[in-house]
Amino acid sequence: MASIRWKILLAFFLIVGLSFFVAATTLTGLVSDYLFDQRTRDDSMKTEKLALAAAPLFQSVSANELNDMLEENAVSMDGRLMLIDNDGKIQYDTFQNLCGQRVQVDEALRVLSGDAAEAYGIHAPGRAVVEEMSGESGADYVAYSVHEMTGFQGRIGAALYVSRVQSLMDSLQTVRMRLVSVFAIIAVAALVVALILSRVLTNPITAVSRTMRKMGKGDLSVRVPVKGSGELRELAENYNTMAAQLESLDKTRNQFVSNASHELKTPLATMKIMLESMIYQPDMPAEVRTEFMKDINHEIDRLTGIVTDLLVLTRMDNREEMKRESVNMSELTLETIHLLTPAAEQRRQTLAEDVRQDIVLYGDRSKLGQILYNLTDNAIKYTPEEGTIRVSLKQEDGRIIWRVKDNGIGIPKDDQEHIFERFYRVDKARGRETGGTGLGLSIVRQMVKMHGGTISVYSEPGQGSEFVVIFPQEGAAP
Ligand SMILES: Nc1ncnc2c1ncn2[C@@H]1O[C@H](COP(=O)(O)OP(=O)(O)OP(=O)(O)O)[C@@H](O)[C@H]1O
Ligand SMILES: [Mg+2]
Repeated sequence: MASIRWKILLAFFLIVGLSFFVAATTLTGLVSDYLFDQRTRDDSMKTEKLALAAAPLFQSVSANELNDMLEENAVSMDGRLMLIDNDGKIQYDTFQNLCGQRVQVDEALRVLSGDAAEAYGIHAPGRAVVEEMSGESGADYVAYSVHEMTGFQGRIGAALYVSRVQSLMDSLQTVRMRLVSVFAIIAVAALVVALILSRVLTNPITAVSRTMRKMGKGDLSVRVPVKGSGELRELAENYNTMAAQLESLDKTRNQFVSNASHELKTPLATMKIMLESMIYQPDMPAEVRTEFMKDINHEIDRLTGIVTDLLVLTRMDNREEMKRESVNMSELTLETIHLLTPAAEQRRQTLAEDVRQDIVLYGDRSKLGQILYNLTDNAIKYTPEEGTIRVSLKQEDGRIIWRVKDNGIGIPKDDQEHIFERFYRVDKARGRETGGTGLGLSIVRQMVKMHGGTISVYSEPGQGSEFVVIFPQEGAAP
């Protein structure tokens, strides 16, 4: 399978390997071109000089003089020299043994046919031939350099210089071998580096994906080890943050579901008991029956309330859109107080207000109303008869502040930090009696947050409680 690891490896290897391969071949090419050029020029020049010097002697028949001259040159040029006439017959040969024979060298034939004034070529005709031609044993290469000899009537023959090129070929071979071995070393090094690099690069990714697989199977507690630095470290950290978030979300959700089902079960169980007693006691007195029906009706109301609250909460979880508008907070506060006045009156409580006029907040009207309603409703519920509840609306330092203060039963210090949690009630038994589910304040907190505000509670058991909601004036959500 083509994993990132292998891709990195391959890419790295290809880049390093190919570029070095190209560099090496170019370099060898350049070196050999240079060496060959130099050699060709050298040999051709020598041959030309020889042809020039030999031509006059070749015409006059001073064989001895010519022989001496050739011998001398053969030593200084370190090679075999031959002079060939226009018919291709070898007239002089410093090795002597080819004298009188027809020349077989291509370059010489070319010059003699008139195609070129000079010719040069390196050949590998087999070791035996090489040894026979150049006298060099164990050599694979031999070079022929030919130049025409001219007299007054034009070409009179050609000079052939057989030179030894084995050492040149050897040094080229050495250069080549060296480059190949350097190439091999670099290739191996590149491979090793690529291996290490790809491992370093992919290990964290593999770790994350392994962890993700585990998480996918349902284990939300797994974390990626955070190692190294840079982006990969960040990847691991971010992943862990996300995992932690998921885990806590999962926990909260589970808790929420179990709390919710518990809350729903209780009224259902109560209703079932009442219904069963009505079924199995057909001769139940009519008043008792009516009483039971009223109770059942009440339970249904409670259930409806809980379900409504749950819906509100889940909708807010889904980041339900806010319908923002300019809300006259002064009016809204008075309206809400008006709504709750009958409930307070029933308990012979004083519901006092201290509302500054013309305070406007840009926010969601129904949510803002719900916030104050829930707080005031709590104040009424958790304050004994004939108590006093005070609702105020102020604007201070550009912030809009609601205060709901009662002189009721208050909230123990230990419970204060929990009352905003879903389903949290200070007194579980009392909650059921008064019809509370413990969702009111969590809804309040959520809605306050959506408006970019904060909520705090100040309370003393037996003395009363005060809830303070502060909005930044713009009512901007975060
Ligand atoms: N003004 C208050 N005085 C004393 N205790 C309070 C006051 N407001 C809230 N509490 C405590 O905080 C708990 C949580 O309040 P919350 O409004 O969330 O739930 P609830 O009133 O019990 O039920 P719900 O509002 O969902 O019908 C209450 O059960 C109560 O114990
Ligand atoms: Mg409440």
